[in-house]
Amino acid sequence: MKAAITTTAKYLPEEVLSNFDLERMLDTNDEWIRTRTGIRERRILRDPAKPTSFMCTEVARQLLDKRGITADEIDLIIVATMTPDMIFPSTACLVQGNIQAKNAWGFDLSAACSGFVYGLHTGAQFIESGNCRKVMVIGADKMSSILDYTDRSTAILFGDGAAGVILEPAREGYGVLDARLYSDGANGKEHLLMPGGGSLNPPSHETIDQRLHFIKQDGKQVFKAAVMAMADVAEEIMERNGLTGDTIDYLVPHQANQRIIQATAERMGIGMDKVMMNIEYYGNTTAATVPICLAELDEQNKLHTGSNLVLASFGAGYTWGAIYVRWQ
Ligand code: COA
Repeated sequence: MKAAITTTAKYLPEEVLSNFDLERMLDTNDEWIRTRTGIRERRILRDPAKPTSFMCTEVARQLLDKRGITADEIDLIIVATMTPDMIFPSTACLVQGNIQAKNAWGFDLSAACSGFVYGLHTGAQFIESGNCRKVMVIGADKMSSILDYTDRSTAILFGDGAAGVILEPAREGYGVLDARLYSDGANGKEHLLMPGGGSLNPPSHETIDQRLHFIKQDGKQVFKAAVMAMADVAEEIMERNGLTGDTIDYLVPHQANQRIIQATAERMGIGMDKVMMNIEYYGNTTAATVPICLAELDEQNKLHTGSNLVLASFGAGYTWGAIYVRWQ
C-alpha cells in the first residue's frame, strides 16, 4: 500500500517585502537580486506573537476544512522546520494542541530546505506500514526570525511561509511511489548553518555580539553543491522509474535560486513550462517551498489523476532528495 496526497493547503503572510524595500535597508539592488536569484519579493510575518506554529496551525485548519474531516481523525503530525517556536516542545505538539487532534502524535523534522521532502517520505512510511490512516505533513519556516538584515548575502534570499498535505492510503498504482534521499554532513556543515543557540554555542553575550544566532552561508559553495546534487538525484529518480522529460507532468523543485532550478530542468530534459516556479513572489521559504508549490498547482487545477510529479530539494546539512508522486 502506498500513500496518496489527498489534500493540500498553504499559508503566506500578507506583508510583502520587495527588493526595493531591501534597497533601502542594505547595499543591494533589485536588478542584482532578480538576475542572480529570480526573486522580486518575499512575505514577512512581522508580528512576534505569530511564530512558526501559527502558520502551521493555519495550514492544518485549512487541510481539515478542505478534506472535510475533524482533527481527531489525524493519527500523526510531522512538522518540517528549522525555525521551531522553541527548541522544545516541538512545533508539531503545539499544532496538535491548537487543533485539538487528540488522537495524534507528532514530531518536528530537521532537514532545512529538504524538510518537506524528508517529511513526505517519512509520513508515507506510516501509511505504507498500515500504522496510520491520516498523516499531516507540514513544511514551515519563519525565516525572518533568523535572518541578519545587515547581511546582504543572506537577507535577500529568504521569506516566511508554510504549507502542507494530508497523506492517506492510495489506490493501487498511485501516490508517493518512490523516494531517494541523501545527506552529506562532512561537506555541508561549514557552508550553511546557524551556529548559535544549540549545545555547541549556547546563548551568551558573546554569541549575541558575534551574531551567531543568524544564518551564515557561503553562497558560492552551496550553489555549486545544489546544482550538482539536485540534478543528479532528479535524474536518478527518473531512471529508477522509467520516467522521461515527456512523461513527467511537473517538476516541483525547492525554490532557492532560479538558476539552480533551470539547471535541474535542463538535465532532466524538461521544458520550463513543466517546472513549478514561484520564487519570484516568495523567495526561499525553506521547508515550505515544495508544499507551497504543490498547493498552488492544486489550486490552479493542474493536478489530475495520473499526473507524474518529481519533487526535488537541496538544503543545509547537506540534505537532498527527489520523490516520484503519481497523483491520485
Ligand atoms: N546585492 C548586491 N551585491 C551582492 C549581494 C547583494 N545582495 N550579495 C553579494 N553581492 C556581491 C558580492 O559581494 C560579490 O561582489 P564582488 O564580486 O565585488 O566580491 C558579487 O556580488 C558576487 O557575489 P557572489 O556571492 O559570488 O554571487 P553569486 O552569483 O554566487 O550569487 C547567491 C549569490 C547567494 C545568490 C548564490 O550563490 C546562491 O543562490 N547560492 C545558493 C543559495 C542557496 O541555494 N541557499 C539555500 C540552500 S537551499
